[in-house]
Amino acid sequence: MRITIAKSEAEFFQLGARRILDQMFQKRNAVVGLATGRTTTGIHAAACDIYRQNPFDVSGLTVFAMDEVTNISREFSGSCYDMILRQIVRPLGIPLENFIMPPTRSDDFAAEARLFEQRIAERGGVDLQFLGIGENGHLGFNQPGTPFESTCWHSRMDSELEARLRRESQSPDHVFLGGLTLGIKNIMHSRKIVLAANGSRKAGIVAAALTNPVTPDVPASVLQLHPDCEFILDSAAAECLPGGAFPTELFRPSKS
Ligand code: GLP
Repeated sequence: MRITIAKSEAEFFQLGARRILDQMFQKRNAVVGLATGRTTTGIHAAACDIYRQNPFDVSGLTVFAMDEVTNISREFSGSCYDMILRQIVRPLGIPLENFIMPPTRSDDFAAEARLFEQRIAERGGVDLQFLGIGENGHLGFNQPGTPFESTCWHSRMDSELEARLRRESQSPDHVFLGGLTLGIKNIMHSRKIVLAANGSRKAGIVAAALTNPVTPDVPASVLQLHPDCEFILDSAAAECLPGGAFPTELFRPSKS
């Protein structure tokens, strides 16, 4: 496990952006899993700025978002499809056929989940999975308690996010808002993982994920077991780590 702590907000976004672009640059047919949310929006914007100044061939890349909100319109600005389309796919000019996403609406989400996994596997599996983290430790829509053996599935979302999305998408109460998400097992099969977290609201869960025993109660704690995983933090998100906010350094949890 590697922890990189940014000295400023700008550096935090730059570091995340560089991890994504480095992977894309080094392997022109890389398969890159992205995450949506407030954290990655700034990272994606920084990636677009860097790319504009240093363009390269992106025609062979595959990108996807690791999860998708279900039972909303794909065109709704809060869908993962729309966010990744606007934030990365269009600005970089990645061919639309190389942007693979599950649908937001389906009468068989279990079949869509298998198809999503199959499309990723057909392209050689995930080279880099970029992750955010929920304040309860969730990864994608894998809430606390999700088994580590889980593969792509249709999950609940946390109640705070559900309430916000319901309001913003004007979805009535009887419509189930869920999340189709890669499972923990899929995430762990990625060749490389980078998780980004900023702000003090993430400090407690970041420390729990990195220093507590590995447990499904904190889904992100499973990342301690991944052989090539990096946490990129700002100093606020790092403030509960042992020793507080320390400079960039290698960190190895005692249990790994
Ligand atoms: C949602 C997404 C996750 C994301 C998380 C963090 O739950 N499904 O993929 O990592 O939010 O979001 P934020 O960066 O806005 O805190």
